[in-house]
Amino acid sequence: MIGVFDSGLGGLSVWNEIINILPNEQIVYFADSGYCPYGNRTREDITQRVKLITDFLISKGVSLIVVACNTVTAASIDYLRENYTIPFVGMEPAVKPAILNSKSGVVGVLATKGTLNGALYKRTLNKYKQGTIVLEQAGEGLVELVEAGETSSAKGRELLERYLLPMLEQGADHIVLGCTHYPFLTKQIREIAGPEVEIVNPAPAVARRTAELLAKNAADSLCNAQSIGSNSSKYTFYTTGANGDIIKKLAACSNCNFADCIHTVSL
Ligand code: DGL
Repeated sequence: MIGVFDSGLGGLSVWNEIINILPNEQIVYFADSGYCPYGNRTREDITQRVKLITDFLISKGVSLIVVACNTVTAASIDYLRENYTIPFVGMEPAVKPAILNSKSGVVGVLATKGTLNGALYKRTLNKYKQGTIVLEQAGEGLVELVEAGETSSAKGRELLERYLLPMLEQGADHIVLGCTHYPFLTKQIREIAGPEVEIVNPAPAVARRTAELLAKNAADSLCNAQSIGSNSSKYTFYTTGANGDIIKKLAACSNCNFADCIHTVSL
């Protein structure tokens, strides 16, 4: 069973990719929407929440966890890998492919402050940056809009224009979505950026990595195949917010009726 979590609903953009390539897996999604956004929280604060969420997911029987959040990966992935025995798939802004494929030599990165200040992102950037101009922008206010289900609001358009137009004016030909909430704004981002600009979303690569690790895990452990209960529903959602309706809107699952699978919990 796979656990997927995020500070809120953004990780559903990763969940959507995972269910596409792993349609037979049982997946538990945890949205910490009651404590979202994490973007400006301290590392200690985030790690505190993440410990609770990880213990909760493990208590539900998951054997692999996808940290579908760039901000959590930046703050807490080392802690998780040092303190738990199950594998974790983390994520960071996909600057490497953007830099390697940029023709203009200008790349824009839209992420939370926590991610942009994180050591992981800085390490990757320094490794690949070379002569590329990388324009970083904190996407203040965007996460809140997605959490409210407002994926095509005038407010979103205004914020995105404020963040993206300066990058585009400076010649950015790749916009890296460094927060899992932002893929839900892709339509508006595309309208602003135009058809030529590449919008880079690492979620499909994260889903592929999850599939690889799962296969390795299954080969390593016979128990894994037995852990999937035949009578429990395939997808379960837990949220610390009161946002079941928005989960239904953002989770692209044509097989779910969602009736019994969304639960509000307090952690
Ligand atoms: N979805 C998250 C990310 O990928 C975090 C958003 C937030 O809570 O600020 O970074």
